[in-house]
Amino acid sequence: MSNINNQTMDSYIEGLFAFIDSSPTSFHAAANVGQALEEAGFQRLYETKPWQIESGKKYFVDRNDSAVIAFSIPKKEQKGFHIVAAHSDSPCFKLKELPELSVEEHYLKWNVEKYGGMILSTWLDRPLSAAGRVVVKGPDRMMTKLVNIDRSVAVIPNVAIHMNRDMNKGIEYNPQTDMPPLVGSADGRGGYLALLAKEAGVQAEEILGQDIFLYNKDRCSRLGLAEEYICGPRLDDLECVYGGMKALMQEEPESYISMLAVFDNEEVGSGTKQGADSTFLRDVLSRIRSGLQLTEETYQCMLAESFLISADNAHAVHPNHPEKTDSVNKSWLNEGIVIKYHGSQRYATDAYSAAVMKDICREAGVPYQTYANRSDIAGGSTLGNILMAQVSMPTVDIGLPQLAMHSALETAGAKDLAYLIRALSVFYSR
Ligand code: CO
Repeated sequence: MSNINNQTMDSYIEGLFAFIDSSPTSFHAAANVGQALEEAGFQRLYETKPWQIESGKKYFVDRNDSAVIAFSIPKKEQKGFHIVAAHSDSPCFKLKELPELSVEEHYLKWNVEKYGGMILSTWLDRPLSAAGRVVVKGPDRMMTKLVNIDRSVAVIPNVAIHMNRDMNKGIEYNPQTDMPPLVGSADGRGGYLALLAKEAGVQAEEILGQDIFLYNKDRCSRLGLAEEYICGPRLDDLECVYGGMKALMQEEPESYISMLAVFDNEEVGSGTKQGADSTFLRDVLSRIRSGLQLTEETYQCMLAESFLISADNAHAVHPNHPEKTDSVNKSWLNEGIVIKYHGSQRYATDAYSAAVMKDICREAGVPYQTYANRSDIAGGSTLGNILMAQVSMPTVDIGLPQLAMHSALETAGAKDLAYLIRALSVFYSR
């Protein structure tokens, strides 16, 4: 159906892999998005300073160093906003404020808690590293510094099968007692802040706060007999973040202000100042309004003319468990963008927004598929309907099909990213 060539597809995948591999946490993802936007000519704005914005120019702003909103203003007219939303965070382990635990004066472990709805077993027996941010006092304000240990420092070992013969009958993991990773011998006790300080280029005593997470050290790779799949950590939702960013950077807007909104904390309910349930998007929209000196009336008309695509990965049919999906409304890897429906509106898609999305896909020449949960399975939630409480406009929930969502290592189709970029480019240029 599509005329996307292999070279284009491969170059997008290479770009995605580099982005994911260098984005172990939402802080790194936001920084990488910011850097790519700056290189593409987007000007950085700060929420703490006045904005001088003009038609025909491109801007971005971050919040909490972990969420980013970028926008590109067309020169000749601004009928409304074309917004793509995605999320920068993925399920993982967060280190507690005081993370060191010792085992009988021999081992040192880190005290962790769950961040999001992860598949716990997938974090066992694989090399793990740690990354995040530390906060130090600067000359006139607190300063954030990103840290990435960037080498294997931790492992959560399984209990040997000889010690638990029921191992393969399904295990209930207790995150407090089963999940703390081993990080070394007890001699290393007291060295945690020094380890972060070294990465941040500061003294240990200077660190006043930290948000540090474990991450899977595996790098992204191609998979399958014909390399038709991609495999890597955090595909949900960095695949859609990357797709949205590429489309925004490569397309000049015509009549609508193009926006990309990357929120943090989707995996823990979005209810933070940098999450989809915050005022971040609304605040940016209203500052665009004042920057362009639009009247309230004009602004309200523009909002009513706007459209939002909430892009968060979707479930493909599982090869061993096809019965887990609806018998008809199901999607497959490499068969296109998934439009998600939910009777109770946890996905914001309705007849109108689905029609717009299908029309975009047709114009882009890319395939789309349909997803609805089995009626006896609750399914997950996402950004779309949460955002509507803050700023309301027609919204479609879409995603790219993937397997093993919220595993430490997820699998998706190699072709689908190119389909997404093509469709979002059409959306932005309409
Ligand atoms: Co997601």
